[in-house]
Amino acid sequence: MASPILLNNKVGMNGLGAGVWNIGPGADPFGGFTREPIPMLDRLPMLAECGLTYYEAHDVEITAEMAPAAARLAKKLGMKCGMYTPSFFAAPIFKDGAMTSNDPAVRQLGLENALKAVDTTAVLGAKTMVFWNGREGFDFVLAKNGRDSFKRLVEGFNQVGAYAKKNYGTKIKFAIEPKPNEPRANMYLANVGEALYLISRLEKELQPLFGLNPETAHSRIAGLDYLWEIEMCLEAGKLFHIHLNAQDGQRYDQDLPFGYTEPLKDLALLVVLQDAKFAGPIHFDVKAPRVDDPKNICDVLHVSIQNLVWLWDRALAVDRKKIEQFRKDNRLTALSGYLAKCLYGC
Ligand code: GLC
Ligand code: MN
Repeated sequence: MASPILLNNKVGMNGLGAGVWNIGPGADPFGGFTREPIPMLDRLPMLAECGLTYYEAHDVEITAEMAPAAARLAKKLGMKCGMYTPSFFAAPIFKDGAMTSNDPAVRQLGLENALKAVDTTAVLGAKTMVFWNGREGFDFVLAKNGRDSFKRLVEGFNQVGAYAKKNYGTKIKFAIEPKPNEPRANMYLANVGEALYLISRLEKELQPLFGLNPETAHSRIAGLDYLWEIEMCLEAGKLFHIHLNAQDGQRYDQDLPFGYTEPLKDLALLVVLQDAKFAGPIHFDVKAPRVDDPKNICDVLHVSIQNLVWLWDRALAVDRKKIEQFRKDNRLTALSGYLAKCLYGC
């Protein structure tokens, strides 16, 4: 069994994580599987073998019924559940969203699924439950009343937060994962700023339970700077979870290996996480490409881990005093050159 990969001088939780869906069978909107789907529980030892400490899963991947077996298996492997997440996007009933559906019966079902997922999060021993905004949005203007949708989100999150607080105190926290589009043309909670605003509208006593899970690709699809999104979360004390990957420009969501497209910006991101003493574990949300053969399905994780470990050590070596000096002297292009030297040169 591979030993878990740890980051040097990482404050708080160490060890890396990834989703069981990261090593999927390779379907895309234009074609079906290119690999036999691997049973979900068989994926845990594969993730452990990559050196990961944490796994993540949707409620449709590791169901409430499977959770006790998953918890036992993870313990045997020395793994933990890093986060659990209800799937509000796959089932046809949620085709127009769950919390923001126009149909009250669908909203009620979404709420019930969310509460069930809170209980399963507890069974799996995870501290974080993620809400991704998958189908919460619209394809046509006026398809929904946007002001009502926002109120429904507030109401839904308040209900979930109240349930968790009553039953689990502050043991389970919620991380909202923004995305601007795909699968919907326009998604509510499109970016970090929108999610922070939503949290500010929740019941005061529930707000501490809610934070963010920003994903690299989701910010870059929107043309936003991921580092700034992370800095905003840090400033608000809301960086509860993190999904690292890479994205090749503003196009469909690629979930490429971390470090592949913008290594210099990724280096800067790690400098910021180190200086902020980010205490959460670092998780990847990558996708084994459709062209990769079954025997190489974990390459996407190996490459992400390798890039992260290299960049993390390079980030530790970045001279913070030099950054300060460049800022003072207003030598901002030279500052970028210094970062490039740390990346490519030293
Ligand atoms: C989906 C999204 C992913 C998100 C996950 C958790 O798989 O593609 O980005 O992290 O759901 O809800
Ligand atoms: Mn993600």
